[in-house]
Amino acid sequence: MNKHVSFLRNSGVLQGVNILPSETFVFFAMISITIWFIMPQFCPVQVHAQLGTTPNIKHIVVGRCFTYTTVVNPNSRYDCEKIWRHFEEAVVKQSSCNVTVEHYNRMFNVMPQIWPCNRFLFWSKTRALMHSYAGVFRHFWTLEDTLVGYMFNDLIWCGQEADSDFDFNSCPEWSTCRNHPVFSLWRQASQNFAEMACGNITVLLNGSIVNAFNRKSMFGSVELDSLNPQRVEYVNIKVVTNLEGPQIESCSKGSIVDLIQILQSRGFHWTCTDRDPTLMILQCIQDPKHSFCQTCANTLLQQKSLTSN
Ligand SMILES: *[C@@H]1O[C@H](CO)[C@@H](O)[C@H](O)[C@H]1NC(C)=O
Ligand SMILES: *[C@@H]1O[C@H](CO)[C@@H](O)[C@H](O)[C@H]1NC(C)=O
Ligand SMILES: *[C@@H]1O[C@H](CO)[C@@H](O)[C@H](O)[C@H]1NC(C)=O
Repeated sequence: MNKHVSFLRNSGVLQGVNILPSETFVFFAMISITIWFIMPQFCPVQVHAQLGTTPNIKHIVVGRCFTYTTVVNPNSRYDCEKIWRHFEEAVVKQSSCNVTVEHYNRMFNVMPQIWPCNRFLFWSKTRALMHSYAGVFRHFWTLEDTLVGYMFNDLIWCGQEADSDFDFNSCPEWSTCRNHPVFSLWRQASQNFAEMACGNITVLLNGSIVNAFNRKSMFGSVELDSLNPQRVEYVNIKVVTNLEGPQIESCSKGSIVDLIQILQSRGFHWTCTDRDPTLMILQCIQDPKHSFCQTCANTLLQQKSLTSN
């Protein structure tokens, strides 16, 4: 999925420098270093300021929208210019920490999207593996495959109160902001995505970390609460650990037990798999020399599963 969402999921903190292409990074790094040398005495805070709105954001966003509606998903009909206008209206002329999810209502209203059931893939802190999993099983849909996810993937933006343009110089970190324009958009997009989820859904969690199921992640704070037990048949949880370990959490250990309890109390059917053979094979394809993969065949035979009925 997109890096903004992945940043949310991975750390809850947006680090603008990590999201830009490397040349841009070098360019801004040079500026930062210059500022550092010129004015450390009176203005040290400047050095820590976040990068501003992604340059050429309009061309990128509108271009991606046309790519999506023409090439990626040619049957879809959206007015890309109109989506952009509503996006711009939501963000500019607002103080950069004051853009709520409601500001994006008009934009989301002109980009409704329906997905077929049994294809929804949610994930938390398993970004790389999620990509290869969704790449192999082409029928899976993540937020990145939606129009909004596709359009705003990896971008930064914020407005400024006194001006009718984006702030290209600096945007706040979203940890310092209650209503960060980037966070608010992803929050609403994630909520819409989860509300639409139907049939069997898959949740990919990372068993090599503490709190694989984190209530503060986008999955734990927005998506889980937005899932509808009337629409969702099964929540199929897959816990993946790194080949080299550690195995900190599993279907019967740690925060995943809490997740299962929440699902159960809300009336969801669920399954949970610790050692999904397909996922392990994918991990081994990426790292075939790993000692674990040499004995992979044996391990696959010991697959462990839990299920609600
Ligand atoms: C944030 O928005 C609200 C309502 O739109 C407004 O009343 C408030 O003054 C704004 N705050 C800032 C800091 O711009
Ligand atoms: C689990 O999280 C760690 C730390 O973020 C990461 O290095 C690792 O690649 C993740 N494992 C999987 C299987 O995604
Ligand atoms: C949904 O998941 C359940 C439990 O894993 C499985 O028995 C069923 O066949 C799945 N249905 C579909 C349509 O994939």
